Amino acid sequence: ESSEQKQLIDLNEQAVKLYHHILMNTKIGQPALDYLHKRGMTDETIVTYQLGYAPSQRLVKPFFDQRQVDYQLLRKSGLFSEGQDGSLRDRFVDRVMYPIRNANGQTVGFSGRLLSTDSDMPKYLNSPETELFNKRKILFNLDFARPNIRSKQPALLFEGFMDVITAFQAGIKSGIASMGTSLTEQQIYDIQRITREVIVCYDGDAPGQKAIKRAIDAFKETNHQLDLKVVSIPDGMDPDEFIRNRGGDKFQALLKNAQSPIDFELNFLKKQSNLQSEDGQAAYIAAALKLVATVSSGISRDLYLNRLAEEFSIDKEVLKQQLAPMIRRTA
Ligand code: CTP
Ligand code: MN
Ligand code: MN
Ligand code: MN
Ligand code: MN
Repeated sequence: ESSEQKQLIDLNEQAVKLYHHILMNTKIGQPALDYLHKRGMTDETIVTYQLGYAPSQRLVKPFFDQRQVDYQLLRKSGLFSEGQDGSLRDRFVDRVMYPIRNANGQTVGFSGRLLSTDSDMPKYLNSPETELFNKRKILFNLDFARPNIRSKQPALLFEGFMDVITAFQAGIKSGIASMGTSLTEQQIYDIQRITREVIVCYDGDAPGQKAIKRAIDAFKETNHQLDLKVVSIPDGMDPDEFIRNRGGDKFQALLKNAQSPIDFELNFLKKQSNLQSEDGQAAYIAAALKLVATVSSGISRDLYLNRLAEEFSIDKEVLKQQLAPMIRRTA
């Protein structure tokens, strides 16, 4: 990394300390600290993740001015927005600050959350794309999770970094998350470098289910060698809510019962089908067979055919005949 990159990391890390200090030790940070406590976050977790608060007073610019930091460096840090006249103002205002670290544990950016979501501002605001910060390359918490994943826990892929943090607090320490973007090839590659086992634990709401489908497709597009599983969180909760409401042990139980991607996709497909109509049934069966054709084990394929035959009271031999040419094509 260049010396400029080092300086930019240094600026981000100074900002971490400033935001963290404001959260923990000042009166203006108190509402944000209360917010985190209300979310069930312990001080230990807040310290571990060096969470902070960016107050509405815009204190970061004067902080660095006092230290006579170079203007061009400040511009590139991602901590400021730039006016037409080139003047810099604190980018993050009245937000809880989550430092985003790269795989080496260096802080390369932030995500800032509003304390309340009644305003029309976006709930989360990230650092802009900079020399340092590329959302599509970051896996949140990879530096903390890596030793645990290597010591034989599956990598848990979450949708949000709050899910990662809550799981971590509950002793489930192999969680990672992308930064609100769909999973990229680079991220899949980075996961594959440290493990073969991945469990996708996205939100239980409708957008989360769609995101699981997209993640499965993204994995399929790469030539991955991963043992992929999927968890469905009940009652539309996300993992953060589930762990806070039902506890870490219940979450571990969900992980133990994680589904194969095929089972998830069949379910997902079924929910979108109109099985009342014969056309709907036929379309579902055709799509289901397409999925079954991708299963490499002949025995597993046979078991799926049994299920389909029984579910729709169709002759299994008919299904088998339909499946046969599809297998040859995908083999
Ligand atoms: N996200 C974002 N901008 C938004 C909403 C979401 O960048 N306006 C990203 C964030 O990275 C977030 C992820 O998408 O972690 C998942 O979104 P969501 O489920 O809405 O957030 P939660 O993690 O559940 O956050 P919270 O519990 O604080 O509402
Ligand atoms: Mn409190
Ligand atoms: Mn979500
Ligand atoms: Mn969520
Ligand atoms: Mn949430």
